[in-house]
Amino acid sequence: MPEDLVIVGAGGFGRETADVVEAINVTAASPLWRLLGVVDDSLSPASASRVQAQSLQYLGSLDDLIKLDVRPRYVVGIGSPTVRRRIAERLDAAGFAAATLIHPQATIGSLVTIGSGSVVCAGARVTTNIQLGRHVHLNPNVTIGHDTTLGDFVSMNPASSISGDCVIEDEVLVDVGAVVLNQLVVGRGALVGAAACVVRNVLAGSTVKGVPAK
Ligand SMILES: CC(C)(COP(=O)(O)OP(=O)(O)OC[C@H]1O[C@@H](n2cnc3c(N)ncnc32)[C@H](O)[C@@H]1OP(=O)(O)O)[C@@H](O)C(=O)NCCC(=O)NCCS
Repeated sequence: MPEDLVIVGAGGFGRETADVVEAINVTAASPLWRLLGVVDDSLSPASASRVQAQSLQYLGSLDDLIKLDVRPRYVVGIGSPTVRRRIAERLDAAGFAAATLIHPQATIGSLVTIGSGSVVCAGARVTTNIQLGRHVHLNPNVTIGHDTTLGDFVSMNPASSISGDCVIEDEVLVDVGAVVLNQLVVGRGALVGAAACVVRNVLAGSTVKGVPAK
């Protein structure tokens, strides 16, 4: 029996997450998820027509979801770590449980743990002895190297890479194509700009960009 699922967020990553669900379902012996639709507090006209084109149901706002008698599983398909955390906290408090979605074309190595609410997209490579926290997003073609820990609500944008032995703390956002060299710590809530090369530890809450990243 497939489990009911909703995606919070009808923007780009929310709709990419719907494709992850579809890929999981077509690859499994029988579908694992019944995607009820997407929830969004501020559905833009562009997102509305894209949701429709993708044959997804728009289910209303977060309040509408919380008012339901049923409690489908959920993932938050919103890239911003802080927004994602706020929504997950509300839904957890209202009795919802998060799902974990791993695209069949991602590769997950040995001794890897992945927290609930996480979404791992096609082409992501997670090697060995790696801990991913809750509600982590690994966009397409992200690589996470050996012995690395990612905290809760970390977002890794497409094609970004973490070398070995790194600690990426809660709510860090690593933008598209950025690289973090080995044995570094990126502090809580930091933002690493697109295409940056991080060569030193990054202070919590700071933004770094460029090569080398400053
Ligand atoms: C790092 C980032 C957040 C900075 O945003 P910002 O502070 O609003 O930057 P601005 O656009 O105001 O630009 C400020 C300066 O930084 C430079 N800059 C912006 N992004 C940069 C980057 N990634 N690397 C190097 N320099 C960058 C700009 O050229 C500008 O330089 P100038 O003052 O000499 O003209 C942003 O540019 C970025 O990298 N975003 C990534 C988005 C992304 O990954 N999207 C993927 C979604 S899936």
